[in-house]
Amino acid sequence: MNLLDEVTALCKRRGIIYPNSEIYGGIGGFYDYGPVGVEMKNNLKRYWWKYMVDKRENVVGIDGTIITHPKVWEASGHVKNFGDEVVECKNCHQRFRPEDIDGKCPKCGHKEFTSPRSYNLLFSTEVGVIEDAKMKAYLRGEACQTIYLDFKNVVDSTRQQIPFSIAQIGKAFRNEITPGKLTFRSREFEQWDMQFFVHPNDMQKYFDYWKEERMNFYKSLYRKPENLRFHQHDKEHLAFYAKDAYDIEYNAPWGWAENEGIHWRGDYDLTQHSKFSGADLTYTDPATGEKFIPNIVETSGGVDRTFLMLLLDAYEVEALDNGSQRTVLKVNKEIAAYRAAIFPLVNNKEDIVNKAREIFDNLSDKYKIVWDSRGNIGKRYRYQDEIGTPYCITVDYQTLEDDTVTIRDRDTMEQHRVKIADIEKDIA
Ligand code: GAP
Repeated sequence: MNLLDEVTALCKRRGIIYPNSEIYGGIGGFYDYGPVGVEMKNNLKRYWWKYMVDKRENVVGIDGTIITHPKVWEASGHVKNFGDEVVECKNCHQRFRPEDIDGKCPKCGHKEFTSPRSYNLLFSTEVGVIEDAKMKAYLRGEACQTIYLDFKNVVDSTRQQIPFSIAQIGKAFRNEITPGKLTFRSREFEQWDMQFFVHPNDMQKYFDYWKEERMNFYKSLYRKPENLRFHQHDKEHLAFYAKDAYDIEYNAPWGWAENEGIHWRGDYDLTQHSKFSGADLTYTDPATGEKFIPNIVETSGGVDRTFLMLLLDAYEVEALDNGSQRTVLKVNKEIAAYRAAIFPLVNNKEDIVNKAREIFDNLSDKYKIVWDSRGNIGKRYRYQDEIGTPYCITVDYQTLEDDTVTIRDRDTMEQHRVKIADIEKDIA
């Protein structure tokens, strides 16, 4: 099995990611996060929010809707241009992006295809209840558009002045032709976006700043930062309004893969929305009175992609001294589903169970903790290693005598005894 297959199997086995609608045979490009995965994903989103919003005085958040006025997607260009090209295998009728076929059909090996046709990735729906008066609308193809829609409201309702930024984590939908590689290319996914609004003269300064900041973010998150790099877009592939664009890429098992884009959007978005809506989206500098359309530096990354890459980065199979092996997720402890697992050594000794329960309750005020009293301690360690729990705390007979517990470290597998009062500090 290759690394992606091993991680996919682990995700299913341990409640991290499940294929959606599996009992109906599944639906390509849609995934659910299980009990372990949802904790990890929430931690990941909190980590981003802390780094991008909480620690900066000039960044504020919003939470916008998935369905917006349909004109938004005309203004943004998505109705006309949000395309990919598709070809169809003349034998099995599967559809692919031309760059994915390499001369023969990946499904049946046939070598004849229809000529490429363009294909729009937007999902559409209808709004309204009366059959003939329903309005066609779209599920948002990129989360950032709601930020542009709320720009004026944020300026009018907060104390922010340019330069400032609006951040959002939210769902986006793309009817991808070839979803695949677990969540890497899915049809429903989450993006973490930041749109930084600046004076046109300050674009280069802030573009350079955010490019470095975003790389620093990913370096702080991954265990192997050497697997990260920038990829600058070729001039001929840049959007006409963009002076520059970089992807932050991760060295995935199938090659360097985009994790996030840093985009020079200039005044394109607010100009388009001004034109299509008729609203005046110029900004007036309160100090100088100068009026201008704010320019935008965008940082737009995939939550689910980062999540998958974190798993690939953290996954290890290690040989043990006794000839067996363990699978371990050496994931950043801020992202791990649980900071620690509490093990009462035995299930049938009330004093031990009660003591363990007391520790569980106290630690739960600060951390997400998991309880495990099933099976022998070795098996419990193996299970917690597989889901990446950084610490396992065992309450045993000695605990009843001297108020100490054993703490076992996920990465080194070393164990030491600690006073109950010092556990919180020990697992910080
Ligand atoms: N607003 C700009 C924008 O949406 P993008 O490069 O199309 O730019 C940003 O998307 C990020 O969203 C990508 O870097 C990727 O991490 C994530 N992403 C895009 N399409 C995706 C898909 N089909 N499945 C999972 N993540 C996706």
